[in-house]
Order: sequence, then C-alpha cells, then structure tokens
Amino acid sequence: MGIVKILAFAGSTRTDSYNKKLVKIAAEGARAAGAEVTLIDLRDFPMPLYDGDLEAESGLPGPARRLKQLMIDHHGLLIATPEYNSSITGVLKNAIDWVSREEGDDEPPLICFRGKTAALVSASPGGFGASRSLAHVRAILDHLGAYMMPEQVSIARAHEAFDAAGVLKDAGKQKSVMAIGSKLAAFTQKMTS
Ligand code: FNR
Repeated sequence: MGIVKILAFAGSTRTDSYNKKLVKIAAEGARAAGAEVTLIDLRDFPMPLYDGDLEAESGLPGPARRLKQLMIDHHGLLIATPEYNSSITGVLKNAIDWVSREEGDDEPPLICFRGKTAALVSASPGGFGASRSLAHVRAILDHLGAYMMPEQVSIARAHEAFDAAGVLKDAGKQKSVMAIGSKLAAFTQKMTS
C-alpha cells in the first residue's frame, strides 16, 4: 500500500475545545510517522439532527455527504472524544448516524466504517478525562466494522493541561498522545495492506 491517509477530528465544535487541541497533537504524531493527515473541524460540517423524514425527502445533508466522502477517501480515523453525561457527545453521535446511512442500492453498507482503522483519545476538565466516553465511542465504531486500535489516552484536568501553544505541559503525556497518532499510522499500514 502507498501512503496511509488519516482523517482526524474532535467530537466537539467549541472554539477552545480541549479535544480539538488534543487531536492536533495526535495528528502530529501520525504525520511524524509518515501518514498524510487531514485535520477537520466538525463545526465546518453543520448537520441537522438525524430525521428519517428529512432523509426520505432529500437524502443526506450536504455536510454529512462531504464528511462521509472524506471518510471513504481515508484509511483511518483519529478521534478525540469529549464526554457529555458519561457518554458520547450529541455532535459526534449525530455525525456518525448520518454518515452511517446508505445512499443508493450499489453502495456497500457502512462503507465509511468497514475496514477503516480508528484510534481514540479523550480530554475533559474532570478527573477521569472523558474515559467513559472512550468506551462508548469504541463500542459504536467497533459495531460499525472499524478496526479499533487497542491503545488510547485520556487527559484529565484538561483546563490545566495545555500551555498557550496547545502543547501538553506534561511532557510524558504529550509523548503518549503523539504515540497514539504514530501507532495508528503503523496499525493502518498493517491492517490495510
Ligand atoms: C459536560 N462535561 C462532562 N465532563 C466529564 O468529564 N464527564 C461528563 O459526564 C460531562 N458531562 C457534561 C455534559 C454536558 C452537557 C456538558 C456541556 C459538559 C464537561 C466537558 O468535559 C467540558 O465541557 C469539555 O470542555 C468538553 O470538551 P471540549 O469541548 O473542551 O472538547
């Protein structure tokens, strides 16, 4: 296989999102390992809440179709997940729900998940670093047919964890988040060759 292509994003649209900062670090690690990384912001993919009537009338909304196509065009997913009420955020779940929908009879089911690799990181100001959301996002992507990388990293007390440049103040944690990205690049190379 040629160059590994990774799509990276956070499950938050918030401007100062800790998870947006975190996914950038992991993306750096993937780039350092030779992957081509596309870093996107879900804010640039605004979607209505999934509604079966809307889908029946007009199919996938444009932003959902763009996101789905990007996922199809990449081999792996690198996701930083926040935690809302002990689980996945609505923004991330809604995006997953839309892109999971089939368009046309010829399209293989779950085309943007099956056979893709995925790695997860998480951050929250709390003491558990959104680790409960990791388990839920992992289960969802696993059911959708992605190859889940076993390693993951959570950043607790995220409001104190980053310096002004977006680097983790704890050098060991910075290294381990970058390693998630570089391991995903290697894992993807293996799983897709
Ligand atoms: C939260 N937050 C939160 N944090 C956590 O560790 N466990 C939780 O269950 C929740 N629940 C929760 C629910 C709702 C509705 C909100 C808005 C927030 C706090 C959350 O971690 C915090 O807002 C983060 O800053 C969100 O991630 P981003 O946007 O910084 O990436």
